[in-house]
Amino acid sequence: MATREDDGQTEDYLFKIVLIGDSAVGKSNLLARFARDEFYPNSKSTIGVEFQTQKMDIDGKGIKAQIWDTAGQERFRAVTSAYYRGAVGALLVYDISRRQTFESIGRWLNELHIHSDMNVVTVLVGNKMDLKDTREVTTAEAKSVAEEQGLFFIETSALDSSNVVAAFKMVVEEIY
Ligand code: GTP
Ligand code: MG
Repeated sequence: MATREDDGQTEDYLFKIVLIGDSAVGKSNLLARFARDEFYPNSKSTIGVEFQTQKMDIDGKGIKAQIWDTAGQERFRAVTSAYYRGAVGALLVYDISRRQTFESIGRWLNELHIHSDMNVVTVLVGNKMDLKDTREVTTAEAKSVAEEQGLFFIETSALDSSNVVAAFKMVVEEIY
């Protein structure tokens, strides 16, 4: 989906990007940090679906990223097909301090490929990189899985803001 909108000034592109990954990996906090520079130390599980539209400037062009967020847990999730419909980018998030969330990557990729275009730009995001002492997934291992699966890769921290803007920029730049 690359819908062109006319806001009277410049012509913008609107890109739908979905956040996916297990519960509590930090999807909602990545979005909160990116869109509002906020962080919630005790955030609750997302229920249903939320989205935020964020203006970005890429190569001097106005881009609107419409970022969708839903729950990692099945019982709280939005209708799957509607969630993915029209997405041109995805951030597949795991928690570097919980190996199990990294092992779920395959399942999330399957779901993504069932419900969206095969060439949706996908960035594998290792969040919570601030938790150095309890890391369970090395950067090298994640990088190699990303390469194998044809994904872009970045590590982030919604807590201390590391690479959060970079992660969203990465997906938008690759779409654009
Ligand atoms: P669901 O909505 O259930 O799918 O979870 P989610 O992926 O949206 O996770 P959420 O953003 O709600 O974060 C879960 C917990 O992890 C919260 O307590 C956050 O404060 C915490 N958290 C999120 N990002 C980070 C991070 O980068 N570092 C650390 N240390 N904690 C984080
Ligand atoms: Mg959430």
